[in-house]
Amino acid sequence: MSILNILQFPDPKLRQKAAPVASVDDRIRTLVDDMFETMYSAPGIGLAAVQVEVLKRVIVIDISEDKSQPKCFINPEIIECSGHEKMDEGCLSVPGIYEPVSRAKDITVRYLDREGKAQELTVDGLLAVCIQHEMDHLDGKLFVDYLSEMKRNRIRKKMEKMRQHTL
Ligand code: NI
Repeated sequence: MSILNILQFPDPKLRQKAAPVASVDDRIRTLVDDMFETMYSAPGIGLAAVQVEVLKRVIVIDISEDKSQPKCFINPEIIECSGHEKMDEGCLSVPGIYEPVSRAKDITVRYLDREGKAQELTVDGLLAVCIQHEMDHLDGKLFVDYLSEMKRNRIRKKMEKMRQHTL
């Protein structure tokens, strides 16, 4: 397994759209494993393939505190959603920033698992928020897009400043 490089906002590559996975083979399983390792080492609770420069519709999530609930979603689709919930969100591509975003509260997601088997899952709370956040990444969308332009520009400046200091 290997740790992959996570693109940082405002990298334009984060705006790319991911294509559906045609078949869940060993290459995809290796990607999933690498994404879990990358997410855990960051550390974070979710990661989308676009963030590691792979344009495939693959996301990994583990909202547990002890890495005990790894979940991977391949070609995820939300087939039902209801309600609204506002929660503070962060992102491994926008480190150190946490802002409230409004999302659907209850969702049912259809996807392929690590073995390529079709699954359906109905969830709410943090997991529902996390799935929606990661699915946005697959369409080149970031949680900062839900904020005001002023706030987003302020975050962009902060990120660019941080990068200069680390070079
Ligand atoms: Ni994110």
